[in-house]
Amino acid sequence: MRVLSGIQPSGKLHIGNYFGAMRQHLQLQSENEGFYFIADYHALTTNPDPKQFNEHILDVAKDYLALGLDPEKTVFWRQSDVPEVTELAWILSCVTPMGLLQRCTSFKDKVEQGLSPVHGLFAYPVLQAADILMFNSNLVPVGQDQKQHIEVTRDIAAKFNNIYGETFVLPKEHILKSVAVVPGIDGRKMSKSYDNTIEIFEPENKVKKKVMRIVTDSTPVEDTKDPEACNIFALLKLAADEGELAEWEQKYRDGGVGYGTVKKRVVELLHEYFRPFRQKREELANNADYVEQVLCNGAAKARAVASETMKRVRDATGLGDVRNA
Ligand code: ADP
Ligand code: TRP
Repeated sequence: MRVLSGIQPSGKLHIGNYFGAMRQHLQLQSENEGFYFIADYHALTTNPDPKQFNEHILDVAKDYLALGLDPEKTVFWRQSDVPEVTELAWILSCVTPMGLLQRCTSFKDKVEQGLSPVHGLFAYPVLQAADILMFNSNLVPVGQDQKQHIEVTRDIAAKFNNIYGETFVLPKEHILKSVAVVPGIDGRKMSKSYDNTIEIFEPENKVKKKVMRIVTDSTPVEDTKDPEACNIFALLKLAADEGELAEWEQKYRDGGVGYGTVKKRVVELLHEYFRPFRQKREELANNADYVEQVLCNGAAKARAVASETMKRVRDATGLGDVRNA
């Protein structure tokens, strides 16, 4: 199966990104054809500082590589190195009903968060559809917040196929229920835009401080507690094995365990989980040339697929080949 996903370089990656999406990307790469990219065109919708943009892009690349992305096996590139996706996005936008985009919740959510209501933000799902359809993707592993965008992609693909004949594969989302929404330290969804994240590679003492600050209710230690309503338990679920998790669940229900104790265990588990990747991340920190090379090789492979798709699409629409190519 062809598995494709993208992640925006809009800030330091956090454990919500990791457990919600990246871990699945990395697991799926061994038995599938992985196509993963850094969605810099998408990040442009928030007008990032041009001086920091490239550094953010390289940071995402370094995080992925440190966490186990295998560039020999998986195609890994920077979205804007394959500019054909913007052409496809335009062509798709010509079959996309306005109502489909008006129903997307992410535009409204982002504007409510204070982002400028620019056209790119509104048309964002069409570019995402172009990313997915360009590479004939079967499966798109993402967090819950992206479900609607994959549904929109299927609708756009079906509409195009209906007008111009079978051209695109209809993709499916891959969302793990257990990690669909990782809570941040304030209890809302962990997100770069809420300033409530625990970054994957921030220093261990900072991780500890943040976990210890996580908001909880004020149930006394001796009282019985509901694990499913607890933000700390949600983090425990990410990194503890099944046996340990069952023990904690029992302790919550029996009462007698304080949130501080659970927080300390979460800190240990997060440290243990990410420690093996830290050294690689530090090596990559000073190896921008290698990282650029990986992205460049990935872009060449991605472009080869993109040019085949664009030929099909241009033929289907009657645009035909680019005459001076
Ligand atoms: P952010 O909200 O921090 O800007 P992105 O929108 O760039 O994160 O998300 C990148 C990927 O990580 C997406 O697949 C998204 O669904 C997933 N993701 C982001 N935050 C979470 C979270 N708190 N829980 C689960 N998955 C998440
Ligand atoms: N919109 C996604 C996010 O914010 C990033 C993204 C862009 C993406 N293109 C994609 C995800 C294609 C999956 C497939 O997380």
